[in-house]
Amino acid sequence: MEANLRSLILAAGKGTRMKSRKAKVLHEAAGRTLLEHVVRAARMVAGDVYIVVGYQAGKVKESVSQCRFIEQKEQLGTGHAATVARDSFTEYKGDLLVLPGDVTLIRPETLEAFVKFHRAGGYRASVLTADVQAPAGYGRIVRRNDNEIDSIVEHRDASPEILQINEINSGIYLFSAPVLFEALTKVQNRNAQGEYYITDVIGIMVNQGLPVAAWKAPDPAEITGINTRQELAAVDRVMRRRKCESLMSEGVTIVDPDSTFIDADVQIGMDSVIYPSVQIYGQSFIGDDAAIHSYTRISNSRLGARVTVLEGCVIADSVVGEDTSVGPFAHLRMGAVIGDRNKIGNFVEIKKSSLGDGTKAQHHAYLGDATIGKDVNIGAGVITCNFDGQQKHPTFIEDEAFIGTDSQLIAPVRIGKRAYVAAGSSITHDVPADALAIARGRQATKAGWAKVRKKKK
Ligand code: UD1
Ligand code: CA
Repeated sequence: MEANLRSLILAAGKGTRMKSRKAKVLHEAAGRTLLEHVVRAARMVAGDVYIVVGYQAGKVKESVSQCRFIEQKEQLGTGHAATVARDSFTEYKGDLLVLPGDVTLIRPETLEAFVKFHRAGGYRASVLTADVQAPAGYGRIVRRNDNEIDSIVEHRDASPEILQINEINSGIYLFSAPVLFEALTKVQNRNAQGEYYITDVIGIMVNQGLPVAAWKAPDPAEITGINTRQELAAVDRVMRRRKCESLMSEGVTIVDPDSTFIDADVQIGMDSVIYPSVQIYGQSFIGDDAAIHSYTRISNSRLGARVTVLEGCVIADSVVGEDTSVGPFAHLRMGAVIGDRNKIGNFVEIKKSSLGDGTKAQHHAYLGDATIGKDVNIGAGVITCNFDGQQKHPTFIEDEAFIGTDSQLIAPVRIGKRAYVAAGSSITHDVPADALAIARGRQATKAGWAKVRKKKK
């Protein structure tokens, strides 16, 4: 982190071109809001982060932590946004890193290099720029020489000659704070949009004979702003690719990065393998040597080492212990907690239930609001009947119990240690430890019945 440096993020705009009810900076890429990405990058370089908020100010403030906020009641332009921040920096004589709220791909390393350039040259203002193929819409950089510039001209105010320039303004700047606020007092809104442009301070400073520079980003993709849903998708794609690259460089195998969606905050241990078309979202953690097979979605969940998740599972807000296997086609949700060495097989749904170590539920079961001990066997088709139409009720199954195939446990109910429930039972009363409970219609077998029936026809 650099000394004598603060950051100011301009995020008061609505983002009209998104065609959304939601402020642009609240849209997400790789599981974080656009603003959160910018805040994280800024914080790593310039400690104190100030944010100008306006449109949906309340929600924008809630979306990030440890920032200071300045309210811009009316959005009269980027220059006006910086002006309303003035009172927060009256005593401050250091540098200010100014960023728009939507430059989601900017890397801290790039900002760091930009600060070095600015400080080494002794500039009062520096603009982060890039050469791009399609400069339409961006402000253009009018250069004086290799380092210094004369002005920034907005697309809508540019002459045909200036529109030929391919070097664009990223909207990221470094300013000496007192010089910025002084220059802002001179900015006017006589332009195509009738707005106060922060970009005009560049020309104002140059006219005062102050040294103003521009520095080209090594990777132009990093400064892409997001104005439309199309650009949002493009940025999300880059973010995802970056995440896969970083996991691979830490020893995770990702078979097909192009079809893999992993959010920025996800952690995955060494030698784990992620097969094609897997989605891992939110605050998820996967241990070492795990295998996550195709068409599985994991969100906000914690999976231990050597876990295997087979094809087509949905795991949300749940915990899975070590050496456990899940799926194919299993659904764990709402705080399911699965122990070590469990086997959760196909078409098993587990909701708000805990399973002790070594327990198995291999085929077609629904376990809801259940507390299940160790080494329990849940037969095929077992159902905890947890809902009576009005309320949810708990089921308890103690260690080493055996629940026979196709049984219904009508909650609230408790099955004691080592107890057996015979296949096909509808259990309505507690079963004590070591007992066998059979609760099904008795079989009647009528010898020769079928032959008698045929004769009657
Ligand atoms: C701005 C630059 C342009 C640059 C481009 C890079 C100006 C005049 N132009 O244009 O040179 O190439 O960014 O993406 O600055 N904002 C406020 N309050 C306002 C207006 C805007 O906080 O009153 C915020 C927005 O929320 C946004 C940022 O400032 O995060 C940039 O505003 P935007 O309208 O996107 O500017 P551009 O037209 O893209
Ligand atoms: Ca923009």
